[in-house]
Amino acid sequence: MIKISPSVLASDFSALGTEAAKMENCGADYLHLDVMDGRFVPNISFGAPVIKSIRNKTNLIFDVHLMIDEPLKYIEDFKKAGADIITFHVESSSPAEETVEKILSCGCKAGVSIKPGTPAEEVFPLLDKLSMVLVMTVEPGFGGQSFMPETMKKAETLRSEIKRRGLKVDIQVDGGINEKTVEIAAKAGANVFVAGSAVFGAADPAKEIEKLRTLAETAYSAL
Ligand code: DX5
Ligand code: ZN
Repeated sequence: MIKISPSVLASDFSALGTEAAKMENCGADYLHLDVMDGRFVPNISFGAPVIKSIRNKTNLIFDVHLMIDEPLKYIEDFKKAGADIITFHVESSSPAEETVEKILSCGCKAGVSIKPGTPAEEVFPLLDKLSMVLVMTVEPGFGGQSFMPETMKKAETLRSEIKRRGLKVDIQVDGGINEKTVEIAAKAGANVFVAGSAVFGAADPAKEIEKLRTLAETAYSAL
């Protein structure tokens, strides 16, 4: 139920394959891969070829977060690169329904993400086909920012709508997740936690993952 997805954005890019393999040994569930195009967000990270280059370094589920303007154009590339879950932004210029269909037809799980200013209701029409909704807890584009607690109302709204419809859709949170904020997010109904700086910046990443998981499990099971 609870999944921890370390974001490689905070890792040593010169040793990406090793960093990915390390996360598997440290007990991560997913590997979060932040793709930025310098248009949808004011930063550029990496694309499909880089993801492909580390696919054989780990068996972790590749949780690909597309912060790009035209995700529909590139879904196949990311599938071929080894993505398992592909999440795109509802604010991007691609038609959302068609993009979800494309992800599913490629055999990947589909996720849709909302920025802090986007209402939760924007993803309601897509919910039935989604495996995950990503509630951004910072403005997308950079690692190391502070968690925005006001975004948690949207996680609550989503959780109750998902429950009301009897669906099984994960709620992911991304941005500023650490030992202080993970419980707040879990209490709001999040069950998939992206953590960049908190995991890669820890002296012992395995311990940190375990700690985040335990905190999240305790808070989530009390719901
Ligand atoms: C931000 C990215 C995040 C980022 C999180 O736009 O989507 O995945 O890597 O980094 P931290 O955990 O450091 O806030
Ligand atoms: Zn991300």
